[in-house]
Formats: sequence, structure tokens, C-alpha cells
Amino acid sequence: MEDRIVSARRQAEDDPQLEAGLRPRSLDEYIGQEKIKEKLLIYIKAALERNEALDHVLLYGPPGLGKTTLAHIIAWELGVSIRVTSGPAIERPGDLAAILTNLGHGDVLFIDEIHRLNRSVEEILYPAMEDNALDIIIGKGPGARSLRLDLPPFTMIGATVRAGLLTSPLRDRFGVVDRLDFYTPSELEQIIMRSANLLNVQTEKEGAELIARASRGTPRVANRLLKRVRDYAQVKAGNVITAAVAEKALQMLQLDQQGLDQIDRRLLLALVEKFEGGPVGLDTLAACISEEPETLEDIYEPYLMQLGLLKRTARGRMVTAEVYTYLDLPPKEDPQQKLW
Ligand code: ADE
Repeated sequence: MEDRIVSARRQAEDDPQLEAGLRPRSLDEYIGQEKIKEKLLIYIKAALERNEALDHVLLYGPPGLGKTTLAHIIAWELGVSIRVTSGPAIERPGDLAAILTNLGHGDVLFIDEIHRLNRSVEEILYPAMEDNALDIIIGKGPGARSLRLDLPPFTMIGATVRAGLLTSPLRDRFGVVDRLDFYTPSELEQIIMRSANLLNVQTEKEGAELIARASRGTPRVANRLLKRVRDYAQVKAGNVITAAVAEKALQMLQLDQQGLDQIDRRLLLALVEKFEGGPVGLDTLAACISEEPETLEDIYEPYLMQLGLLKRTARGRMVTAEVYTYLDLPPKEDPQQKLW
């Protein structure tokens, strides 16, 4: 699945060229994630002053929040080249060895979805990250020899949805570990105004506000929605994104004010109607909406929890009281009150 307009995952229509065009180049241009920016500025300045490579950085958090963007910015601020790859793309240890031996002094190696690295590939990374060394085995059987090659100092930046998905030896080799959080509506509004400017589409503050609120705390969704609303404005409404235009365009996309779509509503409704609001196990709930449990856990749930509509408890997933108002349903009867 996952061709939802509000999916935070990268989609085919998120043209990398265009995404890159909207992407901020420096920490200065980057909106939001203030805590991380503040720390990175210090670490980068310190590394530059000492003329050393920056320590390895692990960025985790839901998709679409700017992990790849931050990796590019870190390389830009350090004045080094970046090599971009992903866990599943590196199939064999030899693939990683080739990448590592081609890195320049102080370069950044960005590995997206680093939790999906093959175990045999991951083992190459340990000495590379710790000792700037590449251990290669030459030959087979009893005559096999191990050869250690020196690598230039480099900065590894890993990205993943949850830090807990990494094996602990890999996680322990990152000196900087930071979590990216959902953006506030006001930060998203600034991102939308900035993108609208770059896309040359006139946008009123109230229009940007509505798009921001439907963007699920996620810049990638904000930029995608902006492009669809721009299409609507161009064809139907004199090329200006006003509040009324944004509202109509979002309705056309079947999104509500908070950016929830049919699948979110189906999920909440299933919890209420089939399981009396929960608690229900992750696997059962995932089956109800024909999704993988991991997708439910990493993609759908974080935003619903952020909105305060869903809770994870030791016994399973539960809706909150707000869901009944949200879905326009009568409130759940309280069994305690029935006693009286
Ligand atoms: N575009 C996407 N993410 C952004 C961010 N955090 N700041 C500025 N522009 C962005």
C-alpha cells in the first residue's frame, strides 16, 4: 500500500531533484529541530577547529522529518563530500568495502535505513567506525589470511525510524545519537511559506496555516500537499493559495483538518467498533487494516499518538476518550458508572 497523499515515506512523485531544490542547504536555513541544530552547530564547529572528522551520528525518528536533509547539511557545513546509500542497497561486504575505500578525508557516509544492513556487512562497519580500518579476508579455508587496510577518517551518519532496531554493537559506535521530533504547526507553516516562495506560488498565511495543520507534523507531507494545493489553485482559483482554496483542495484530497485520511479513520473506527476501544494487540489491529505490524507501528501510530487519539499500553493499543468526539460517536459507557 502506502500511496496515501499523507504518507511520510518517500514516493515516486517526490522527485529527488525537486525535493533537493526545496531542501535547506545550511543549518541556518533549516527550520525546526532546534535542540538538534544547537548541538550539531557546536560539534561541527569543534570538529572543524580541531581539524578532525565529526564523530559518527545516528539520527532516528519517523520518516519525512529531515534525516537525509540533515545529513546533507552536516556535510555542507563541514565542507566535505557526502556519499549516500541505504541499508538494503548494500548487499555484500564487498559493496561496503568499495564505498569505504573511495571516501575522501573527513567525508560523510550516509546510510539510510541502517537497521536493514545485512549482518555480514555490519561487521565490516565495526572496525571501520572504531579504528578507521577495513579488515579483508584473502583466500579460503586454513590458508585464509586477514589483511587490515587503513581508511581515511570519516563521519558515518546513520538514519532509522527507531534506535532500538539497531543491534547494540552498532548503536554503541555512534558518538552522537539524536531523535527527530514531529514539527509544530508554526514550524510547518514557515517551511510551507519558504517552499511556496521557491516554487513561485503566491500563498497567504491563512492558506499555509491550513496546509500546515494537515501535514502530520512532517515537512515531506507539507511539501507534497503544497504541490497538490498549488495545482488546485492554478486550475481552479487564479493561482493564489488562500484559506478557502487550501480548504477546498484538502477536501478534494479527502483529508480532514488534522491530516487524517480514510485509513486513519478506519483504524480508529475498527478499534472502537470491533474492540470496544481496546486494548488490542498490534498484530490483530494491523490485520484489521491489512497492514504489516511494523508499518502500523512506525508509520501510522506515531502521529495518532501525537494527536492524543491513540495510546500504547502494556496490554495493547487503546483509543482515548477524544476519539469518540473526533469520530462523532457517543462516548463509551464507563463500566464503573453502570454499577450505580
Ligand atoms: N524543507 C523540508 N524540511 C525543511 C526544514 N526543516 N527547514 C526548511 N525547509 C525544509
